[in-house]
Amino acid sequence: MQAVIIDQYGSPDELHMTTLPQPEIADDEVLVAVAATSINPIDWKARQGLLKSQFDWDFPVVLGWDLAGTIVKVGAKIHDFKVGDDVFARPDIYADGRRGTYAEFAAVKEDKLAHKPAELSFEQAAAMPLAGLTAYQVIHDRLKVQAGEKVLIQAGAGGVGLNAIQIAKALGAEVTTTASADHHDLLKSIGADHIIDYHDTKITDVLHDYDAVFDTINAIDDGIAVLKPTGRLVTIDGAPTDAQKAQGPDVSSWWLLPNGRELAILGDMVVAGQLRVIIDQVFPFTTAGLRDAHRHSETSHSAGKLVIDVDPEKNAD
Ligand SMILES: NC(=O)c1ccc[n+]([C@@H]2O[C@H](COP(=O)([O-])OP(=O)(O)OC[C@H]3O[C@@H](n4cnc5c(N)ncnc54)[C@H](OP(=O)(O)O)[C@@H]3O)[C@@H](O)[C@H]2O)c1
Repeated sequence: MQAVIIDQYGSPDELHMTTLPQPEIADDEVLVAVAATSINPIDWKARQGLLKSQFDWDFPVVLGWDLAGTIVKVGAKIHDFKVGDDVFARPDIYADGRRGTYAEFAAVKEDKLAHKPAELSFEQAAAMPLAGLTAYQVIHDRLKVQAGEKVLIQAGAGGVGLNAIQIAKALGAEVTTTASADHHDLLKSIGADHIIDYHDTKITDVLHDYDAVFDTINAIDDGIAVLKPTGRLVTIDGAPTDAQKAQGPDVSSWWLLPNGRELAILGDMVVAGQLRVIIDQVFPFTTAGLRDAHRHSETSHSAGKLVIDVDPEKNAD
């Protein structure tokens, strides 16, 4: 199969197309013919070698942890999926480093899979898993946002932020977010109540007594400063210190857990009109396409997701 790999850590120029064997699947896995994948900041952080302490991979490494596609093979212990099903998933990160989704085929455990709703294109479905699950698990599962609560979501125009705002609005919260001016119209269109241009306004000057903060930019002190003493903060981009944890509000960090059941909930929210999938740009599945997508993601100023069209014919259906 064709796959885009890196042979060493480094710049986007390390990404290149090669031919690899298809992944062998275990009894509890399916093999998916990938129609689309998407880029997340973890991809370029991993490419740069910043996750070496967490993942001890051998080269060549296949990056990428989002997919939408069609099942072509099922393991002996698969119950709820069959060959021909259209699915989406945030697969596990495997220890060998060779099972990423920048590839024509990827292996996924059954409990990480969800059926792709017919209403979602493969590109839209591939944009959802990692960012959507992170947003759902923080807003719904960890912060347990309630109707009427005042919630700050940092970096609203990011892949995670756009999902988090819409999930918090669906739960009935009053949502404030931060973004550059270019992205304010987009954020209004998905329901953000208050939008702060962080280039000219400090959140700590204008916000106070918040119930919950979703920190996506490692600004934990600022988040704590705008909370009520009984407020909650979850960060996905930092590690709170003991001093930060001791200040009163409940402060913790979160690393997403791949979960097919929760992904299906997100799919249902899209079908119900509660969640819009925002795609910034679609890139081709080529060496140049992956390098361009990484460069764009590394600016940290995309508005929504960067998607890779692995199988253009399937996405044209
Ligand atoms: N722990 C986990 O499980 C987990 C899971 C997913 C993501 N993450 C991490 O969470 C972070 C966000 O992920 P993502 O996928 O949303 O990234 P992303 O899509 O690349 O985020 C891009 C957005 O960040 C905004 N931004 C950049 N600097 C900002 C600032 N100082 N204040 C406010 N907004 C700012 C930009 O807004 P403007 O262009 O409007 O300025 C842009 O829209 C990344 O660091 C990622 O690695 C962690």
